[in-house]
Amino acid sequence: MTETTPAASAAADLPPLPGRVLTPAELKRWVRRLADRPELWEHLVRHDTGGRHFGSLYRDGDIDVWVLCWNTVDDTGWHDHDTSSGAVAVTRGAVHESRPRLGGTPRTRTVTAGRAFAFGPDHIHRMTGAVDGSVSLHAYSPPLWRMGQYSISRSGLMRRLPVSYADELRPIGE
Ligand SMILES: [Fe+2]
Repeated sequence: MTETTPAASAAADLPPLPGRVLTPAELKRWVRRLADRPELWEHLVRHDTGGRHFGSLYRDGDIDVWVLCWNTVDDTGWHDHDTSSGAVAVTRGAVHESRPRLGGTPRTRTVTAGRAFAFGPDHIHRMTGAVDGSVSLHAYSPPLWRMGQYSISRSGLMRRLPVSYADELRPIGE
């Protein structure tokens, strides 16, 4: 894992922000607008680091924004975003998003370039690269501070480990 220096962009360069916490629907619209402006985030794209690469594009009191670069070996493990809502726009390749189902197989979808999705703080998911060289933009509001990382045993027992937003998400204890 490698991380690029935080907050590489100024707010003035970005699509307009409301100056308050954004809803999931607002985040999805905003991250789509950002996806249409590759000159703002393309400098953070890297796939040569041997692992998942993420770069912080912007962070203020209401939102933080990341560029994630995926290969197929990259896997966040199960996690939540604590009190934050989020939105993801895939700009290159594709990612898999899975949601756990107690007593059942996870519900998995593939999100391809040009598509976006959003979620609230109640959302638990896991993301993996579906295609080597994929890129996605992630916006969270309020800004990520802590997250929950889950392990799910073979018998279905679920545990939550609180982690910092600066920690790399990865599968644990499976
Ligand atoms: Fe996530």
